[in-house]
Amino acid sequence: MKVAVFSAKPYDVEHLNNANANSAVKGEHEFTFLEPHLNQQTVALAQGYDAICGFVNDTIDEGVVEKLSSYGIKLIAMRCAGFNNVDLDACEKHGLTVARVPEYSPYAVAEHAAALILDLNRNIHRAFARIRENDYSLNGLMGFDLHNKTISVVGGGKIGQTLIKIMKGFGCRVLCYDPMPSDIITELGAELVSLDTVWTESDIISLHCPLVRSTYHIINSNTISQMKRGVMLINTSRGGLIDTPAVITALKNGKVGYLGLDVYEEEAELFFEDYSNQVLQDDVFARLTTFNNVVITGHQAFFTREALQAIAEVTVQNISCFCSGDFESICLVTSH
Ligand code: NAI
Repeated sequence: MKVAVFSAKPYDVEHLNNANANSAVKGEHEFTFLEPHLNQQTVALAQGYDAICGFVNDTIDEGVVEKLSSYGIKLIAMRCAGFNNVDLDACEKHGLTVARVPEYSPYAVAEHAAALILDLNRNIHRAFARIRENDYSLNGLMGFDLHNKTISVVGGGKIGQTLIKIMKGFGCRVLCYDPMPSDIITELGAELVSLDTVWTESDIISLHCPLVRSTYHIINSNTISQMKRGVMLINTSRGGLIDTPAVITALKNGKVGYLGLDVYEEEAELFFEDYSNQVLQDDVFARLTTFNNVVITGHQAFFTREALQAIAEVTVQNISCFCSGDFESICLVTSH
C-alpha cells in the first residue's frame, strides 16, 4: 500500500521503515514521509496514496475527510492511541476505515506521569537550576512524602492501571474514577469512587481518560473549587481536559499547588517543533511557564524506545491487515 505519513519526524522514519522491513511480508508498504501536519491546507499532499498515517496534532476534520475520500483514500492509520482529532462521523459517512494503536506502552505514559509527580513534589526542576547557579540553599524546596497521601486516577484503563500499581508502590491511598471500570482496578488495590470524591479527597489528581464531550474541561473553575487547597494536578492525557485559564487563576491564588503537564489544549501550534528563535505568541502558555510550581513537557510521555517500536509495528500490522481484509486483527476505531 502507498501510505502518506503526515507529521513525520526522523524517529518515525526510522521506526516505521524498520517495522515495514521486518514485517511478515518484508517491505510490503511504500511510505512517503511528510513533515507537515495533516489539515485543510496540506490535505492535497495525500493525493495518489491509498492510505494516510496520522498523529496527535493532525486535524482530520470533516473537510479533510471529504478530500481524503475524494482522493480514493480508504484507510486512516493513526500511529497513536487517542483519536479525538479525527471526525469519526465524517469517516463513517465517507466510508473510511480508521485504525489506531490502542496500547503500545502504558508504562511509558504512566512512568512519565510518575516522573512529573516526583519532580513537582521534590522541586527537582528548581534544584537542577540552583545547582547550576552555585546555589545550594534549600529554602523553598521542601516536598512532602507520597506515602499515605491520596492520589486519584481519573480513567482506569491501561495507563491508569499502570499508574495505580506505581503509586501503590509508594504507599499511597489510590482512588480511581472510571464510568466503565474494569475489575482489575480494585484487584490492584485502588478504591473506585465518584468524581465528587476525586475532587474533594485527593492530594494528587492524574488524568488518564480520553478527551470526549463529557471530559472536555473536566478540570474547570467549578471542579477546582471542590479540591483541597494545594492539590497537585497531572495531565498526560489530552490538553482539552483542562480549562487552562481556570487553572492559572487557581495557581495564582494557591488553590492548585502544583501542575504537571505533558499536553496542552493549544499544543498543535507549539509542540514537536523548535521555535527557539521566535517570540512565543501564546499568552496563556507563556503565563504557565512563569510559575515555579508548574512543569511542562511537550507531549513526550509516549516517547520511549519500546513505545516507538510497538507503535510502528502495530501501525504496519494495521495497514497489512487492512490490505488482506483481515478486519479481525486490525485495531479498529471505525471500519467499512
Ligand atoms: P484506555 O482506553 O485503556 O483507558 C481509558 C479509560 O478511560 C477507560 O477505562 C475508560 O472507561 C475511561 N473513561 C472513559 N470515559 C471516561 C470519563 N468520562 N471519565 C473517566 N474515565 C473515562 O486508554 P489508555 O491507553 O489508558 O490512554 C488514556 C489516554 O492517555 C488516551 O485517551 C490518550 O488521550 C492519552 N495518551 C497520552 C499519551 C502521551 O504521550 N501523552 C500517549 C498515549 C495516550
